Amino acid sequence: TRPLRIAPSILSADFARLGEEVTAIISSGADYVHVDVMDGHFVPNISFGAPVMKSVRPLTDAVFDVHLMIAPADPYLADFAKAGADIITVHAEAGPHLHRSLQAIRGLGKKAGVALNPATPVSAIQHVIDDCDLVLVMSVNPGFGGQSFIPESLNKIRQAKALIGNRDIDLEVDGGVTADNAREIVAAGANVLVAGSAIYAGNDPSTYASRIKAIRDAATG
Ligand code: DX5
Ligand code: ZN
Repeated sequence: TRPLRIAPSILSADFARLGEEVTAIISSGADYVHVDVMDGHFVPNISFGAPVMKSVRPLTDAVFDVHLMIAPADPYLADFAKAGADIITVHAEAGPHLHRSLQAIRGLGKKAGVALNPATPVSAIQHVIDDCDLVLVMSVNPGFGGQSFIPESLNKIRQAKALIGNRDIDLEVDGGVTADNAREIVAAGANVLVAGSAIYAGNDPSTYASRIKAIRDAATG
């Protein structure tokens, strides 16, 4: 089984103190920094872009896990690679040439991820699975933090796990993840858990370690 990774989403961070919010989650036991990029076009919200990510990148050696909710994505892949992304995930729905996007990410020397919206079947990525380093199952409709986990996502996670088989591919779940559902999400096959509001709510760094530990403990049963 693949190592469990906890990936707090800085979408729920206090942007006025973004640097401290990044270092706080890493010193509190998080594995990845999940970076939610939204364009107000592919999703109905705008977050931030590569320059903002670049400004906090030097603060930690942790993996920057960049989730691009933008269309088109291809013109911006090099920007995010240069800004210090380690994993770049594009949405399967974001453009007509997913294979090209995944190849472009690997060509930049980064790990290539593909995300599936709640209504998108796992079969959408069947023919590009060997071009992926990470599959991201969205368990809410992308665009906002703080939404509730869609229960049907558990079936999707199982199907994605079956498609991945024993390939060297991470299975990430994003949206509504909490200590209460982490166990069943991991049991369904996920090994990377994104959590925004469950970690950052209240933006009090003194709470982050216990919240990350609660998710990790729940996930590892
Ligand atoms: C949703 C984003 C998520 C979101 C998660 O569009 O991709 O990463 O920030 O937030 P929570 O954990 O609050 O659902
Ligand atoms: Zn995300």
